Amino acid sequence: MSDQRNHRVVVTSRGGPDVLQLIEEPIPEPGPGDVRVKVDAAGVSGFDVLLRSISLPGNPKPPFTPGEDIAGVIDALGPGVDGHTVGEPVAGWTFGDQGGYAEYVCGPAWRFVGIPEGLTPIEAVAVVINYLTAHLYLHHTAEVQSGERVLVHGAAGGLGTALVQLGNLAGLDVYGTASTHNQGVVAYLGATPIDYRTEDFVARIRALTGDGVDAVFDTVSGVRQLWRSYRCIRRGGRLIPIGSVGISNGGRKLIPFGLLTAVTLKLVPDGRGVPLSPNMMTFPAAHHDWYRQTLAELLGLAAAGDIRPMIGGSIPLCEAASAHQLLADGRHAGKIVLTTQPSGGSVAA
Ligand SMILES: NC(=O)c1ccc[n+]([C@@H]2O[C@H](COP(=O)([O-])OP(=O)(O)OC[C@H]3O[C@@H](n4cnc5c(N)ncnc54)[C@H](OP(=O)(O)O)[C@@H]3O)[C@@H](O)[C@H]2O)c1
Repeated sequence: MSDQRNHRVVVTSRGGPDVLQLIEEPIPEPGPGDVRVKVDAAGVSGFDVLLRSISLPGNPKPPFTPGEDIAGVIDALGPGVDGHTVGEPVAGWTFGDQGGYAEYVCGPAWRFVGIPEGLTPIEAVAVVINYLTAHLYLHHTAEVQSGERVLVHGAAGGLGTALVQLGNLAGLDVYGTASTHNQGVVAYLGATPIDYRTEDFVARIRALTGDGVDAVFDTVSGVRQLWRSYRCIRRGGRLIPIGSVGISNGGRKLIPFGLLTAVTLKLVPDGRGVPLSPNMMTFPAAHHDWYRQTLAELLGLAAAGDIRPMIGGSIPLCEAASAHQLLADGRHAGKIVLTTQPSGGSVAA
């Protein structure tokens, strides 16, 4: 791809992976307080697939560029920016009309944090949204304590692998659901694997723990799923709805029905709770210090080898539709990443 023009992936309308199209345009100029990042790696997530497929209140309308995180090098500073330098390797969160699926991205300087030495852009980008989200939901929403037991659904996915690893670091006893082919991944990450396709996870949790777990992180959603997750929780425990991968089976009605179920369960006075969760789409913008400190800490943990972001595949930016298809096929483990290097990628799934 040319250095003189920007290539950017655009969701042209709601639909399948083929609505993702690569456009060419002038390289954007950073405005006041912004930096411009020459992108090496852009993260792909289940949320991008959701935004591409359906319309949700408050989310961008087509045409827009998806992508919640990038890693690259700062190549221009807008007026008034200090604390960053041209040539600095950075990673950060991108959200809004201009997401991360591009060769050049401009965004507010506070969003970008230096990448420590020893971490590749692909590893760095895999830390951003998944580990920030996992950290927020583990420590802010669920307020987990060392020694507690937790169940993570979708434990081999991008967010799930982050929840499992940060859960281990926090001294939790972690159980994780995944398909048969991902049981080894979940065990390797340090959780007790449960095959949700062949086993009744409620019965298995009861058999493994006796009285249940202290928290369930439910990335799947849906009435039946949330109710079954709730049944895994012991008195004093918490249900944390955190995603909606089940939408591929349940359709878009899964989101309102899931919300209704969570609210109903919250009202049941049986010593179990469904705490209110902050929204990752807005939380970083309202808590710059938390965002910058936590992201720096997480990148440091990755550089030190204390967490190991799993890469499910690295795919050239111009093949973003294949990346979405790979995510939809659900045979990967870990984070799918788009790269801007022409010689590009491999699929490790
Ligand atoms: N709330 C937030 O702020 C936030 C932030 C990030 C992500 N999310 C949400 O979290 C969800 C996961 O995102 P992601 O990027 O991690 O997606 P992902 O990488 O595609 O992972 C999802 C995983 O879920 C597993 N799965 C599918 N159906 C399942 C079921 N019924 N039970 C258990 N596991 C199941 C699949 O694993 P197998 O192949 O093993 O079946 C898949 O690997 C999405 O809904 C996303 O929107 C929310």
